[in-house]
Amino acid sequence: MQLPLYYNEEEEWNKTLLLYDSVLREINTKLEILNNEFKQAHQYNPIEHITSRIKSPESIARKIRKKNKELTIENIVKYVNDVAGVRIICSFTSDIYRIASAISNQDDVTVLRVKDYIANPKPNGYMSYHMIVSIPIFLTNDVIDTKVEIQIRTIAMDFWASLEHKIYYKFEGKAPAGITDELKECANIISFLDEKMLSINESVKHYHQDFNGGVAMSSENPLPVIYPDDTGRNKNSLDSLKSYYGSVVSDE
Ligand code: GTP
Ligand code: MG
Repeated sequence: MQLPLYYNEEEEWNKTLLLYDSVLREINTKLEILNNEFKQAHQYNPIEHITSRIKSPESIARKIRKKNKELTIENIVKYVNDVAGVRIICSFTSDIYRIASAISNQDDVTVLRVKDYIANPKPNGYMSYHMIVSIPIFLTNDVIDTKVEIQIRTIAMDFWASLEHKIYYKFEGKAPAGITDELKECANIISFLDEKMLSINESVKHYHQDFNGGVAMSSENPLPVIYPDDTGRNKNSLDSLKSYYGSVVSDE
């Protein structure tokens, strides 16, 4: 990818792109691991799908111009927080917070900013959970904390955001009031739909529990307990096994 820079900083820019590409790989691996773990414990995928992208040179330049900054690599790294971006589409609203806290709690992840447009939707109706986090990238002689924007939303929220984005572009940001109102109304319907789907899912879980006579995960307290051990296994035996995953024991 070529950035339309006014001066030759190609090498520096390539290193910058390498970092952003690397941070996307790191976050994608983390998400894949969490999704697989969750699938094993709870028999469903909290993540429907993930997309990630490096911002196009044109959008980077547009953003820098909007911020009235000179187009330099330093300014891009400093002021553009979403050069690397990942979007996580979840099944249910509760999954959004589970994923967000599982990521935030990892030792190598630093949360730089959170915008919860689900608890506080934007006036136009936009809903999504945004985090900017940094993750260390280990190079040969250097470790560089690199930021990535994470957007987490449900399928329904994503449906709304994609259409709103297209309409917004069509009117170059100045959609007629009627359209804006209708979009807002759609956002309310989307929100209702997400709540309804979540409550159906909760009832389905209870059915599952009744059929199996087992103990279902606590739906009232989904946040701090991310993966409660509902398998009935002895937790102590799991804990003692844990130390062997990272050690080499002499077999003599
Ligand atoms: P930018 O909007 O990217 O300059 O950053 P910000 O600092 O305002 O962050 P924010 O978290 O509010 O928005 C980040 C991203 O969320 C945007 O780049 C969009 O991808 C998305 N987003 C925010 N608001 C809207 C909205 O009203 N509609 C849609 N479709 N997407 C939005
Ligand atoms: Mg953006």
